[in-house]
Amino acid sequence: MKLVFLGPPGAGKGTMAGRLSEEKDIPHISTGDIIRGAIRNQTDLGKKVKEIVEAGGLVPDDLTISLVEERLGKSDAREGFILDGFPRTIAQADALKKMTSLDRVINFQLDDEEIVKRLSGRRVHKASGRTYHILFNPPKTEGKDDVTGEDLITRPDDTKQSIEKRLEVYRNQTAPLISYYKEEGILTDLDSSPSPDAVFADLLAAVS
Ligand code: AP5
Ligand code: MG
Repeated sequence: MKLVFLGPPGAGKGTMAGRLSEEKDIPHISTGDIIRGAIRNQTDLGKKVKEIVEAGGLVPDDLTISLVEERLGKSDAREGFILDGFPRTIAQADALKKMTSLDRVINFQLDDEEIVKRLSGRRVHKASGRTYHILFNPPKTEGKDDVTGEDLITRPDDTKQSIEKRLEVYRNQTAPLISYYKEEGILTDLDSSPSPDAVFADLLAAVS
């Protein structure tokens, strides 16, 4: 099963990709997680893109395209994958088309007001990318990751200013991919406003 999760920031792509990846035993490939890992490890790529990412801008296409090409080349992605947060521009979608076929693109839908609520309460386990919400999806112990017990953090791009920028970038550069994949006949809209369990049930139905 080769899937792309498309949608605005905070729509629940990462949360649902994590659950579906476990359920279907296919890798969850989040370019955001890969890029944040590079920033944390202070690699050349990480140093180059830190400021862009924290301000809510897009990393240049050539960098994200080669990241994804390398990741999809690994053996665990041969039978299937969930691409979360890639592609985000038409150029990335064109490049992806040359790398692999896709079975379905899930278009997560959520309005701006709800997006802001979700992002401002989000907490993340840095090392794994596991994601919580202080109200909607709290960890078992406040401020601690359920699995490792380590501290949870707020993402540096979850500030008011950066959220606004990410929404603007989404509208201008990523939303055109909705009609791109609609024309290919592989787009499924998913209302992301219900509870996590309800969204997951709809997602399972959409990919079955
Ligand atoms: P990325 O990490 O992809 O961020 P994003 O697209 O802004 O999306 P988010 O991760 O913020 O949201 P999400 O949809 O995963 O929501 P989540 O599940 O966490 O990218 C970050 C940056 O990296 C970009 O800005 C860019 O700089 C760079 N980048 C990445 N990919 C790139 C690319 N291809 N090209 C160029 N640059 C790239 O959920 C949000 C919150 O809601 C959580 O707290 C969660 O617990 C909660 N929640 C989830 N579902 C529900 C529900 N159903 N009900 C209630 N709460 C819920
Ligand atoms: Mg995410």
